[in-house]
Amino acid sequence: MVRDDIQEAASFIRSRIGASPAVALVLGSGLGSLADDIEGAVALPYGDIPHFPVSTAPGHAGRLVAGSLAGVPVLAMQGRFHFYEGHPMASIAFPVRTFKALGVRTLFLTNAAGGVNESFSPGDFMALRDHINLSGQNPLIGPNDDSLGPRFPDMSTTYTPRLLEAARKAASDCGVALREGVYAWFTGPSFETPAEIRMARTLGADAVGMSTAPEAIVARHCGMDVLGISCITNMAAGILDQPITGEEVMEIADKRRPEFVALVKRILGLI
Ligand code: HPA
Repeated sequence: MVRDDIQEAASFIRSRIGASPAVALVLGSGLGSLADDIEGAVALPYGDIPHFPVSTAPGHAGRLVAGSLAGVPVLAMQGRFHFYEGHPMASIAFPVRTFKALGVRTLFLTNAAGGVNESFSPGDFMALRDHINLSGQNPLIGPNDDSLGPRFPDMSTTYTPRLLEAARKAASDCGVALREGVYAWFTGPSFETPAEIRMARTLGADAVGMSTAPEAIVARHCGMDVLGISCITNMAAGILDQPITGEEVMEIADKRRPEFVALVKRILGLI
């Protein structure tokens, strides 16, 4: 039995959008306008959906947009929930579990991230091969709901190899360079210190960000396939002799939007 609150949210969404898509897309900072490319869009403000949390972060509109992208039916989150906003982990988990209850099989996570790997440049795209959870948090802490997934879920292949392969092919089809690497999740909202970035690099991280890993954990817990793509919007702290700003993150994500949209569409056509 799926939990009542999840079931109620899913029923509401189903009543508004009809058949559920197989893919849900989470749009990261500065990437939310990708939802403008969705055809036949039906938008549902989070506040209208029973039990859904409401987002506060800049660059995050706060609605679900259902429709078709590159001919593929999708359900997009325009605005995601971050731990740094003060949302409890349960709120970050809720949309993912609602997607699962709707029959969504694939969670496609996008984000803006800082480049830790010094061979990266702002504007690069990176597919996530794995992540490192440096937050000290886990969205599965608390009683386990056995109807959703196991108490101790396996995380050996968090990012589905078949989807990673599709992303590689899509990038090559679009003529877009696609890096691959490990994403380190810090809670934020302060950007990391140079020492933290050196630590993350030593531990094997290629990029850092304040999202994605918790959603990926929740998705794997309930058996969904996961793909993650970062837009590297800046070099992480201490690499360049300049401060990092939220404006810079938005600006680069916005500038790379056309290529990002093309890549996302091509990936959707392949999965
Ligand atoms: N650190 C954390 N999150 C981010 C960064 C960063 O440098 N850039 C974009 N999101």
